[in-house]
Amino acid sequence: PIMQDTYLVNGELKKWTGQTTPVFSTISSTEKYAPTLLGAIPYMGENEANEVVEAATAAYDKGQGLWPTMKVADRIKCMENFVFQMKETRAEVVKLLMWEIGKSLPDSEKEFDRTVEYIYDTIESYKELNTQSAHFSKVQGVNAMVRRGPLGVVLCLGPYNYPLNETFSLLIPALIMGNPVIFKPAKHGVLLITPLLEAFRSSFPKGVINIVYGRGREVASPIMKSGKVDILALIGNSKSAIALQDQHPNKNRLRLILGLEAKNPAIILPDADLDLAIQECVTGTLSFNGQRCTALKILYVHESIAAEFNKRFAEKVDSLTFGNPWEKGVALTPLPEKEKPAYIEELIDDATSKGASVINEKGGLQTENYIFPAVLFPVNKEMRVYHEEQFGPVIPILTFSDIQEPLHDMAESNYGQQVSLFGKDIKTIAPLIDTLVNLVCRVNLNSSCQRGPDVFPFTGRKDSAVGTLSIHDALRSFSIRTFVASKDN
Ligand code: G3H
Repeated sequence: PIMQDTYLVNGELKKWTGQTTPVFSTISSTEKYAPTLLGAIPYMGENEANEVVEAATAAYDKGQGLWPTMKVADRIKCMENFVFQMKETRAEVVKLLMWEIGKSLPDSEKEFDRTVEYIYDTIESYKELNTQSAHFSKVQGVNAMVRRGPLGVVLCLGPYNYPLNETFSLLIPALIMGNPVIFKPAKHGVLLITPLLEAFRSSFPKGVINIVYGRGREVASPIMKSGKVDILALIGNSKSAIALQDQHPNKNRLRLILGLEAKNPAIILPDADLDLAIQECVTGTLSFNGQRCTALKILYVHESIAAEFNKRFAEKVDSLTFGNPWEKGVALTPLPEKEKPAYIEELIDDATSKGASVINEKGGLQTENYIFPAVLFPVNKEMRVYHEEQFGPVIPILTFSDIQEPLHDMAESNYGQQVSLFGKDIKTIAPLIDTLVNLVCRVNLNSSCQRGPDVFPFTGRKDSAVGTLSIHDALRSFSIRTFVASKDN
């Protein structure tokens, strides 16, 4: 087990002697099912919250600190040094990704490699951003040299489904733009930060990156209440985001960068290539057991093809293999949240009591945290699974006769991240795209929804996001434009 007995504050890995919280994996390491103890993390409170706030605030020093004023080339050196050391931790972090969050071996490796690439691409993009500083000569006689400057102290909270990659999609751009960061790792996916602590400590000046552990209420709340956080950067649920935001004494000064819930639909038109649509909808709904904000979470199938789609879709779902993350060829893995199977069961029971059926043979079969995906049909608006972001292996299917029906539902929805549209006739699709782009931020044609490639803007409308991430956009989100102006005399 990993007994995490230090925390990173003010450039020091400080010894923790207080209370700890055990970290368990829902994966059993014995034949007879029992959760596996992976280690323990510090249970921090207000004192440590104050300590990290002080360290980060001092590092920023009202914009005059070493980090916010450091030359671009030197800040890049720190980041390069970090990523160089990070690469050495691959095997250990990948192993922890599998045990802590149940992500399959290939997907865990992908998460690690994508993150390393993300850091290198961010460095390149940061260089470009600086060399591209616009020079507006003779605009009404004024020349301007535009730069981008940091905004202040960032509190960064990442999600359990990408505890490395998505967290770093906040952390890395925040840091490289000159902002000191306080980072609290996700509840699941916390121990995999341990192998990176020394790299963080030795790569950045003191106070620039501070890492705390513990419950949001105990440690993140006092950080917000201090009023010293300038940016709340969070990927997770809106309930936590709102609660944290509300605790800031001067909300007007708080910048938000949030990646929140989504209920991305797939719309399958009558002329869709069914093989392709089924394949994409299976991956879109069930990759990492549906625990992705970009997962397809509701399928709208045209009534004329519903019988065939449902039959083949259900068969395809049942053909997926279930197993532990390191087993070869597994598509479905155990859920890391202990309470999740009971929630999925609740959604299934609610829908079946209101007229839906589980249309795949294996749907809902469960042994502890190994729960087989359930395909529900026909789903209607009375059911919880229609409204709630299931974030797990349950797939609601609805039919439609007129395209206005799913469009209307999307317009009514509280979410607006992405949509997948399956069809062939360009004359039907083209005008639909014009409507869809005003309902969501990304329209995927004949393919499932996803965040990447990471150079594309990642955001959402309504309750799905605040601000934009991506290699290019995140640098802008975590900074402010400033400029030097001179007159042509
Ligand atoms: O949880 C939401 C993630 O942003 C999904 O990312 O589409 O690369 O799996 P992904």
